[in-house]
Amino acid sequence: MIRLVDLYKSFGSLQVLKGLSLEVKRGETMVVLGRSGCGKSVLLKVILRLLPLDSGEVWFGDLNTSDFTDFQMVPVRRQIGMLFQGSALFDSMTVFDNVAYPLVEHTDLPDDEIEERVHRMLEFVEMDGTENKMPGELSGGMRKRIALARALVANPDYVFFDEPTTGIDPITASRINELIVKTQQEYNVTSIVVTHDIASALFVGDRFSFIYDGKIIFVGDRSEFLACDIPAVKKFRENGLWTKR
Ligand SMILES: Nc1ncnc2c1ncn2[C@@H]1O[C@H](COP(=O)(O)OP(=O)(O)OP(=O)(O)O)[C@@H](O)[C@H]1O
Ligand SMILES: [Mg+2]
Repeated sequence: MIRLVDLYKSFGSLQVLKGLSLEVKRGETMVVLGRSGCGKSVLLKVILRLLPLDSGEVWFGDLNTSDFTDFQMVPVRRQIGMLFQGSALFDSMTVFDNVAYPLVEHTDLPDDEIEERVHRMLEFVEMDGTENKMPGELSGGMRKRIALARALVANPDYVFFDEPTTGIDPITASRINELIVKTQQEYNVTSIVVTHDIASALFVGDRFSFIYDGKIIFVGDRSEFLACDIPAVKKFRENGLWTKR
């Protein structure tokens, strides 16, 4: 469904992606693990083309978007819901306007339909009643849930989660994990979850991949991940962040 082929991305002399390849199947949740600074957020941004690639191919189904202009990327991005690391809500807009934003920007839906969908999404993330609040009034975990509602409101085929559980307490983190699973089950999306939280990864993931030195050095299912004896993976697994639940 999503196929990444030999991706390269540098910032000046800093090479971040050095021939990264990965395939994500339709309907699965692929977890991308790796140490802080290894390029996980950069990977999501080059897939969305919020950052340009140096070389390599990004395929969505049989569509190769590698040479797409920003204009050509618009309908592709519309199919993707993105939960940014740090939520990236618009601070000057209410919760309602934040969640409604993708619909207002990209659709001609009538106001009552938009209202209905926003309300349904806020219920899904258990944040109904917060429509008129400003993001600044909410906790980190609440902001993540609002950001998830915004990511899902336009019924995307793909959802990318960047560190969905980082920086929030374990109880809220496990609620977010449950929502990620519920998202896959109810909306049948194909997801990429980027994280360094192993417990979260194991809760939400169907398959697991590991970035090291700019490449994917491991892909496998849960038991393969837990048994993997590649030294970098093993070390990460043994010293990784295990959120208590
Ligand atoms: N826009 C940018 N300009 C220059 N360097 C960048 C830019 N974005 C990321 N980098 C660098 O690329 C490397 C990878 O960053 P990235 O944010 O992808 O790491 P990460 O794996 O997401 O880390 P974390 O787990 O801490 O979120 C880092 O060294 C970072 O400083
Ligand atoms: Mg990151």
